[in-house]
Amino acid sequence: MQKIIHLIVGARPNFMKMAPLYEALKERDDGYITALIHTGQHYDEKMSKLFFEDLGMPEPDAYLHVGSGTHGQQTARIIERYEEYILSGNRPDLVIVAGDVNSTIACALVAKKLHISVAHLEAGLRSFDDRMPEEINRVLTDRISDLLFTPSEDGNANLLKEGVPAEKIRLVGNIMIDSLVENRAKAEKSEVMSELVISEQEPYALVTLHRPSNVDEISGLQMLLSAFRKIGEQIRIIFPVHPRTSKNIERLGLSSQLAEIPNLTITEPIGYLDFMKLQMNAKFILTDSGGIQEESTFFGVPCLTLRENTERPITITEGTNQLVPLTSDSIVHYSMKILQGDVKKGTVPKYWDGKTAERVVRVLDEFFESRR
Ligand code: UD1
Repeated sequence: MQKIIHLIVGARPNFMKMAPLYEALKERDDGYITALIHTGQHYDEKMSKLFFEDLGMPEPDAYLHVGSGTHGQQTARIIERYEEYILSGNRPDLVIVAGDVNSTIACALVAKKLHISVAHLEAGLRSFDDRMPEEINRVLTDRISDLLFTPSEDGNANLLKEGVPAEKIRLVGNIMIDSLVENRAKAEKSEVMSELVISEQEPYALVTLHRPSNVDEISGLQMLLSAFRKIGEQIRIIFPVHPRTSKNIERLGLSSQLAEIPNLTITEPIGYLDFMKLQMNAKFILTDSGGIQEESTFFGVPCLTLRENTERPITITEGTNQLVPLTSDSIVHYSMKILQGDVKKGTVPKYWDGKTAERVVRVLDEFFESRR
């Protein structure tokens, strides 16, 4: 009997993690029936649909349309609607959730309470910072998962320390890198450089910002914009603005400060392939994203992470990532060092090789075999 698997996606960073697994499971349709469930946490064309197209993903089998809200509202809506979906004749044998967004914990919780097995892709990552909503989502999802797929050894160590039984933990590597490997050639052909009028040789810094800790309050956002102003005097800046950030810039009255940054190109959120091309060709990246710390390590592009901590320390110990103290002077200082040629070199961590989805499917085969 084929096993039914739900793959949960909700927010932008989920799509590139599930696309490779969806493909790998589809090739095994003798053993698995795979349904893609989109909670609708991200719903804008540019935050969602564009990614489905770029990654060659089909329309979701179910779309829960939960939309925005407070954490409580959004998480509650996902729980309510996903439970309803399962109970209306759509019970799977396994639910796979990815990453650390509200859709991750909400769907894991629904499945667990209905006695359905849960697997967590990208398990074991810890920032040890409970003020970060994603950290709470990570810890709780791992606590109730039956299979924990880790991207790197530090994930295994964190989980073992928390008392997770070793047999539940599987080091499979970084599944996001599967998407990069699969789509690299397509991304090379992206026209985004000419669309943004960037010549092949022109150096630029690529900026992304969306963490509540950076963009929800005026002091933090003002500090960052003043750093960008000084950096913009030395190098062109490309800044695709996240909806949370653009709403806050307007709400906090910082639009004119943004407009004063020299050499700045602002865009709407950018699709997967175009953004990959922009990462590959950047002189360096300034970001508070989780995934971009990893992608830049894979591409060997220096990344300055605008956060006090990271749940992805391997990008620092092995990769090209550095944490930058959150002051305007430090951000400018680290950026200038790169422009002067003082560039952190890195290597690509083990199992970040494009074969993670294959390893996951092998573990799933064993998992179901052991339960027969
Ligand atoms: C969420 C994730 C975060 C992830 C990020 C990537 C949680 C707790 N956070 O944060 O881990 O790194 O996505 O983008 O799950 N909005 C739109 N259009 C959309 C989606 C959101 O305009 O398609 C607006 C919302 O109305 C809201 C803001 O953007 O005002 C934030 O969206 P939300 O999903 O709450 O959190 P993110 O900051 O995107």
